[in-house]
Amino acid sequence: MGNKVKRDFTKLLDINKKECLRLIERAQKLKELKKQGIEYRPLKGKYLAMIFEKASTRTRISFEIGIKDLGGSAVVLNKGDTQLGRGEPIEDTARVVSRYVDAIMIRTFGQQIVERLAAWSTVPVINGLTDEFHPCQILSDLFTIKEIKKDFKDLKIAYIGDGNNVANSWIEASILFGLNLSIATPEGYEPLANLVEMAKENKNFQLLKDPFEAAKDADVINTDVWVSMGQEEEQKERREAFKSYRIDDELLAVAKKDAIVLHCLPAHRGEEITEGVFERFSSIIFTQAENRLHVQKALLEWLILGWNE
Ligand code: CP
Ligand code: NVA
Repeated sequence: MGNKVKRDFTKLLDINKKECLRLIERAQKLKELKKQGIEYRPLKGKYLAMIFEKASTRTRISFEIGIKDLGGSAVVLNKGDTQLGRGEPIEDTARVVSRYVDAIMIRTFGQQIVERLAAWSTVPVINGLTDEFHPCQILSDLFTIKEIKKDFKDLKIAYIGDGNNVANSWIEASILFGLNLSIATPEGYEPLANLVEMAKENKNFQLLKDPFEAAKDADVINTDVWVSMGQEEEQKERREAFKSYRIDDELLAVAKKDAIVLHCLPAHRGEEITEGVFERFSSIIFTQAENRLHVQKALLEWLILGWNE
C-alpha cells in the first residue's frame, strides 16, 4: 500500500460512485473465478479481525470464508471475548488491533462506535451493521439487482417497512446514484432525517406512508424485519405499527409484472413477508445472501491491497 491513505467502509457514502461500480464489477469477476474453481490468493499472510457485538449468520460466514478464499485468515471476537465489554476504550482497542491485523470488520450498536474505531485504527475498518447502517448488505443488493436486471439506474426500487439500518443504507445508494427509490414507513419509524433531506435533492427519491404507492410499478421491492436486533422490547408495538406494511400478493399486484423481491434476511414469515411471496422469490433472496461473499471479497481486496490504477 506504500504511503497510500487508508480507506474505511463505515457507510456507503464513504466511497464514491466510481468506486462502488468498480467493487460490483470486481465482485462479478471474483464470483466467476470461484465458480470456475480458480484459486486467487492475493491476501496470503493478511489477517482480518471480526468484532461482533450482535448476532450474525451471513456476515460472520461470508467475511470469514471471504478472507480465507483470498488466502488470508480471520480472528473472530464475539461479544464478551474482548476487554471492550469490560470498559477498555474503543480508541485503545483500535490501536492495539491495528498492530495485529490488516483490516477490522465490526458489527455493533451505535454508528459512532464504528466511526471512532475507524478514526483510531491504522488499518481499514468495515461496518458489518450498526443501528444506523448496513452498507455491505446494500453493496450486495446492488450487485444482485445488476446481475438480474442488468442495471439498477433506470429501475424503480421500493423499500417497505421499518426506516432502519437497511433503509438508511438504501437512501445512501439513492444519493450516490440518483436512484429512483420510494420508501414507505409508518409514522414514527422513518429513516434518518438528515439522509432523507439529502436524498430529497434527487427528484427520484420519495418518502411515503402508503406501501401501495411505493410499490406501484416498482421493479424491485425490498423489505427487512420489523424488529431489529436491540429492539426486542418493542416487539409488540412494532408488530401493530407495521401490520399493513407486509409484502404479500396484494402489494405485489401493483408492482411491475417482472418485479423481484429482495430480503436481506433473516426473514419473519407472516410479518414483513408472506410465506408464499418469500418462497416464490427465495432463489433470488438466497443469491442476494450468497453475493455478500463476493462483494465483501472485492471490498477486502481493495481496502487491504488497493487497486492498480
Ligand atoms: N443480512 C445479514 O446481515 O445477515 P446476518 O445478520 O445473518 O449477518
Ligand atoms: N435490520 C436488521 C438487519 C439484520 C441483518 C437488524 O438490524 O437486526
